[in-house]
Amino acid sequence: MFKVGIITASDKGAMGEREDISGRVIRELMESSGYRVERAIILPDEENALLKEMIYMADELNLDLILTTGGTGFSKRDVTPEATMKACNRMANGIAEAIRYYSLSITPRAMLSRAVSGIRGDTLIVNLPGSPKAVKESLEYVMDSIYHGLEILTGRAGDCAR
Ligand code: MTE
Repeated sequence: MFKVGIITASDKGAMGEREDISGRVIRELMESSGYRVERAIILPDEENALLKEMIYMADELNLDLILTTGGTGFSKRDVTPEATMKACNRMANGIAEAIRYYSLSITPRAMLSRAVSGIRGDTLIVNLPGSPKAVKESLEYVMDSIYHGLEILTGRAGDCAR
């Protein structure tokens, strides 16, 4: 069973002014797909706090997957991709590109997502958009491929069948 961490980047959420529905949507989708959610946290949109948490989840908790929601847009406070890029030693942006590609068929606004995805050691980190609707659409689209990626990353599967 793969272990997952969820980071909700939201100034309002961290101050208790907004309910974290997106984090809950991620938890429900992951648990119903057989993942174990080990930690879920709401943080303000601050690069250092986000980076520190990603490092903690990857290096101390040894989670297989970190999913973030929020902070990928154009607002000056949106810094989730910057924290993610600093956390990763290998980018795996095909996942972020796939999410944007699929999401563009739903709304042209998807081009405004600056989300990235990458790998820190043995941990895959994927940025998801902020809204619960966008989270569900995005995650459902990449769910199967993420699972296969994790199998390869953790050595539970060899390379893709040819
Ligand atoms: N992706 C999907 N699938 N559905 C959506 O409704 N909204 C977009 C985009 N991606 C959207 C989506 C919008 S309006 C923005 S501004 C960007 O994600 C960034 O979102 P964030 O700032 O909440 O992370």
